[in-house]
Amino acid sequence: METGLQHAHSFIAYAALILLIVASVNALIGMSSNKQFKGSDRKIALFALIFTHIQLLIGLILYFVSPKVKVFAMSMGEIMKNSDLRLYAIEHPLINLIAVVLITIGFSKHKKAATDKAKFKSIAIMYALGTLLILSRIPWSTWF
Ligand code: HEM
Repeated sequence: METGLQHAHSFIAYAALILLIVASVNALIGMSSNKQFKGSDRKIALFALIFTHIQLLIGLILYFVSPKVKVFAMSMGEIMKNSDLRLYAIEHPLINLIAVVLITIGFSKHKKAATDKAKFKSIAIMYALGTLLILSRIPWSTWF
């Protein structure tokens, strides 16, 4: 099960990141060119949200089964001293969790926004911020 989940988390990361970038750029363009907010704009943002949430769920399970996460085997002091161990145990999960919260807030706020520009703005800012946070803590050396 562990390797199945590792592969899924590794593979869905591509889909989630591509969708997040597309949704952010689409919303930035919509906001800056005063476009009408259409069903297709909502769908792009929704797909990005769904894939990000799937990624989060698999990540949460992996946190307890992955051999790369040493929180249950080593002291916090030892983990903090090693940048690789720190990335998997603290930085990647925590920063990504914050990113997913921001993206979710962005989607939920767009629903309540009164104007098309405000809808695009909510998605543009929160999705772009979330995407940057995720990109800042990807284990690039093992993934890309
Ligand atoms: C939501 C955005 C997230 C993205 C885009 C993402 C992406 C990635 C990527 C690309 C890897 C490297 C995979 C590889 O080396 O093949 C990885 C590994 C990992 N991620 Fe995430 N992740 C996310 C969220 C999370 C969260 C929230 C957690 C934990 C709570 C988590 C836990 C892990 C763990 C434990 C590994 C190491 C898995 C292993 O190879 O054993 N991830 N993640």
